[in-house]
Amino acid sequence: MSKAEQAYVLPVPAAAEYVYGGGRRTRVSAFSATLALLTLVASAALFAHQAHLLPALVSGQHALEDLASFYHSVKTHDGLCVGGVSHSGYVGLNGDSEEAPKRSFFWFFEAQRDAENAPVILTIGGGPGTSGMVNPLFGQSHCKVSSNITSYANHDAWSEHHNLLALDHPVGVGYSYGQMVNNSRDAAYDAYDFLLKFFHLYPHLAKNQFVIAGGSYGGIYVPHIATVIHEKNAALAAGRGRPGARHINLESMMVSNPMSDWLSHNRWALQQRCYLTDFYNASACADAFAKLPACLEATQMAFMDDTVERRAAALHECYAVYPAIEGRDMQNVELKCNGTIEDCYPEAVYADKFMNLASTKETLGVPQELNFTFSRVAVWQEFFSTADMAQQAYLLYEPLLKAGYRLLHYIGKLDANCAWPGVLSTLRLLPSPYQSAFNDAPDLPWPGHAATVRAVALTTDNEGRQGAGAFTFILMDHAGHFVTHDQPTLVKDIVRHWIANVGWNETLDG
Ligand SMILES: *[C@@H]1O[C@H](CO)[C@@H](O)[C@H](O)[C@H]1NC(C)=O
Ligand SMILES: *[C@@H]1O[C@H](CO)[C@@H](O)[C@H](O)[C@H]1NC(C)=O
Ligand SMILES: *[C@@H]1O[C@H](CO)[C@@H](O)[C@H](O)[C@H]1NC(C)=O
Ligand SMILES: *[C@@H]1O[C@H](CO)[C@@H](O)[C@H](O)[C@H]1NC(C)=O
Ligand SMILES: *[C@@H]1O[C@H](CO)[C@@H](O)[C@H](O)[C@H]1NC(C)=O
Ligand SMILES: *[C@@H]1O[C@H](CO)[C@@H](O)[C@H](O)[C@H]1NC(C)=O
Repeated sequence: MSKAEQAYVLPVPAAAEYVYGGGRRTRVSAFSATLALLTLVASAALFAHQAHLLPALVSGQHALEDLASFYHSVKTHDGLCVGGVSHSGYVGLNGDSEEAPKRSFFWFFEAQRDAENAPVILTIGGGPGTSGMVNPLFGQSHCKVSSNITSYANHDAWSEHHNLLALDHPVGVGYSYGQMVNNSRDAAYDAYDFLLKFFHLYPHLAKNQFVIAGGSYGGIYVPHIATVIHEKNAALAAGRGRPGARHINLESMMVSNPMSDWLSHNRWALQQRCYLTDFYNASACADAFAKLPACLEATQMAFMDDTVERRAAALHECYAVYPAIEGRDMQNVELKCNGTIEDCYPEAVYADKFMNLASTKETLGVPQELNFTFSRVAVWQEFFSTADMAQQAYLLYEPLLKAGYRLLHYIGKLDANCAWPGVLSTLRLLPSPYQSAFNDAPDLPWPGHAATVRAVALTTDNEGRQGAGAFTFILMDHAGHFVTHDQPTLVKDIVRHWIANVGWNETLDG
């Protein structure tokens, strides 16, 4: 038996899990070493630093607080970014005090058109540890930064038609500071607390459609945040809400190149790295496939017996599978660059410098003594200490889909980090009312053929026009992990169609 084939004989629960594509049975494979956006952390070194393992994930119990009395400092500005008003600053979260601060930094870009009524998109980073400011500065907002470290107009901005709320989530990331949490569920309680306070400060936006967007490790953050919102909204409706709390008008979720299931993620990564692209050479693949079974088995053990020790063991086995590759970009295998941030994503370097300018801090309302970094290792270490990565966050989507929230996945095909075969496998395995329809649905061409679209549960409006689907998967050509960076015009179009819930072939005005 070849090394590649050995992976077939792993003790995994359902044969269906081997399938990622249109009903075909293909070779079993697996994962990606770098979990997140710009997180380039040597995991082995972190294992060495790991002092102790902790008990199972805490599910937060949170004291009620009077919403009117929370710390906040917010500034409004129209000079920092070309073409629009934005607001930024801090909101103190539950447990915040002057002695022991716990403060979320946000940057809210008002929609350039009809901000009063435009949907609100919450956009967060990956990581764990990546700043949410990567998203606006990498193309989602009308604020992009050029090599001369000044902002310029971005005609592909999501913020043209949408209110874009970028959040440094969780605390410790970007310009957020103070007491950190060490798992996605506690982070989600903090995000909910932040949102209640944000809508308290901007009450006129609370009526608007609300959408959560994330990518990469956002594949874990987003379903946790949506779940907490859903549960808290239900408690509120039942008269058990927090004093001062209001309904959060969550309508849908948008996720790009996520990791939402440690098992599928690992099972299919080598498919991308060894067969669909040439990211790994033959000897690297042979080595990796030999190590894959231990990773998948340790992961299965962790899922059957969910303890920190088991999850940490799964991380340990799986990180060992993937050799580091020099001179290439894992986030987009076709990008012609040497694998460094400087060479592959110079915009990230400009944005980092821009965020650290004294004048930028002054305008944004950030204390001068804070330094900005796109990727905060300390946050990664907190999450690593609980082995938060080794979880099945995708299972959280079932109750959300049943409750009527829509879910979009828009995926760059060239990503070797969070590779599309693992994402599609996750979606095929996702238990939901749409599962069989989704698994049988065709991938239709995007107008212009820059992508394919698999959409199910399409609604029809009064005039007989179809919607964008309740559970939709878009696979984009010529895009890797950073879809908005790689395909800004296409992604803007996708986001507009999704949020307006109009058919993918419909032409949008303006
Ligand atoms: C900075 O770069 C932008 C975009 O490339 C350009 O439009 C602008 O003129 C430059 N500004 C200065 C001061 O060089
Ligand atoms: C994770 O956070 C919980 C709650 O704050 C704490 O009890 C636990 O000790 C933390 N774990 C580690 C490893 O710091
Ligand atoms: C294959 O890739 C590995 C890992 O990057 C590298 O160390 C090795 O030199 C490569 N082998 C060949 C034959 O190119
Ligand atoms: C990669 O490219 C950058 C920018 O072009 C350069 O400064 C750096 O030295 C290169 N690094 C390597 C390892 O080739
Ligand atoms: C921020 O950066 C400055 C300049 O590099 C450095 O002197 C300072 O110690 C840094 N502050 C923190 C809190 O890391
Ligand atoms: C768009 O329309 C074309 C032509 O009718 C069709 O082939 C394609 O499947 C449609 N795409 C989607 C995503 O509906």
